[in-house]
Amino acid sequence: MALKKITWRSLALSCCHRCEKTRSVDADEKLLKQASFQRLLLSDVSNPGSGISVDDVSLGAITAGLHKFAYSELRMITHNFSWSNLLGEGGFGPVYKGFIDGKVRMGLEPQPVAIKLLDQNGLQGHKEWLTEILFLGQLQHPHLVKLIGFCSEEEQRVLVYEYMARGSLENQLFRKYSAALSWSIRMRIAYGAAAGLAFLHEADPPVIYRDFKTSNVLLETDFTAKLSDFGLARDGPEDDGSHVSTRIMGTQGYVAPEYITTGHLTTKSDVYSFGVVLLELLTGKKAMDYMRPRREQSLVAWAKPMLRDPGMINRVIDPGLEGQFPLKAARRVALLAHRCLSRVANHRPTMSEVVKVLECFQDSDIAITGPIIYVVAHPTAAEGCHGEDDVDARGNQPRCFFLP
Ligand SMILES: Nc1ncnc2c1ncn2[C@@H]1O[C@H](COP(=O)(O)OP(=O)(O)OP(=O)(O)O)[C@@H](O)[C@H]1O
Ligand SMILES: [Mg+2]
Repeated sequence: MALKKITWRSLALSCCHRCEKTRSVDADEKLLKQASFQRLLLSDVSNPGSGISVDDVSLGAITAGLHKFAYSELRMITHNFSWSNLLGEGGFGPVYKGFIDGKVRMGLEPQPVAIKLLDQNGLQGHKEWLTEILFLGQLQHPHLVKLIGFCSEEEQRVLVYEYMARGSLENQLFRKYSAALSWSIRMRIAYGAAAGLAFLHEADPPVIYRDFKTSNVLLETDFTAKLSDFGLARDGPEDDGSHVSTRIMGTQGYVAPEYITTGHLTTKSDVYSFGVVLLELLTGKKAMDYMRPRREQSLVAWAKPMLRDPGMINRVIDPGLEGQFPLKAARRVALLAHRCLSRVANHRPTMSEVVKVLECFQDSDIAITGPIIYVVAHPTAAEGCHGEDDVDARGNQPRCFFLP
């Protein structure tokens, strides 16, 4: 369920509505107090006048809640960043598994962690690192990955997260040589990821995630989905604004068409990307795959025309499910994906509406079976609810941050 972020401002404002006439010194003090508790925005950090520059890592209240690790500590817990600890690698750099406890530093809760190291020669840098700290240091939710700490020593920039035992949705959905994810598990993942996005969109001001894709959805042992990677996230427009204008960034196959053509970024851009991932969950096919026949290379271009036709569902659905899916539910999810993928941004549902629809397809008796399969990347590889849904029926994507 999406949670509305309670800010000091919202508390203070509700207080003002209730007792406008008897507003006291106390209320004024509350208003003053809330100002210092409001979310620190990206624009505050990039604005030199605010006294905080992108190079300033002592973001006080934010970093106070995080552990500041020494590089030597991280080197020790990853066995000198050994290949056997490598979990994967993305645009930011390599990600290693480690374990922290009281032996590393007094008072550390024993737990496995994922350690993401900035690749000094990569396309991302200090700005993405700081953006991640800024957002994940302030926003906590059951469907956002938890940032535990960071490291900033000379050129080194590192992020330390809670470890997600099943890795990314990309690895789980598209892995070869193992049983396909069941329908119930796919719906659980879709719901969790939707709830994470809805939470971001309902924050004040909204957060536009901008890089929603299967590799950024991480999974716990029980397939609870959490969003990771806030390096491209942006604060949405405040109150009356409809969009923010940005340099076009994202991953091919997932970016909303109007964002590509106008550079205008809204929460509805994220809804489109969510529609692409929902389609990947339905079909078991990647958003872009140049190994497929030409007219099928773009998943949206190939599948979207079939989503509204109930008779076409068996052509769209992942053959790996071997017919084990509730037909009516699948049709409803296909319709939901179709709405998310609307070319007209305003015709797309909000993420809260998406959450409500997906809530109907959550299976309380979900069987979490199968081993946890670790997929280790090679270092160079870079609508309302009606129930009654129980009828059974019978390459490679380039990662690309692109600029116009
Ligand atoms: N917290 C985590 N727990 C477990 N595995 C993780 C965690 N974070 C990242 N990984 C693993 O590391 C891989 C690389 O993650 P990363 O987010 O850096 O790149 P990516 O999402 O694959 O690519 P991109 O840079 O385009 O977002 C993930 O696919 C996942 O397998
Ligand atoms: Mg990622």
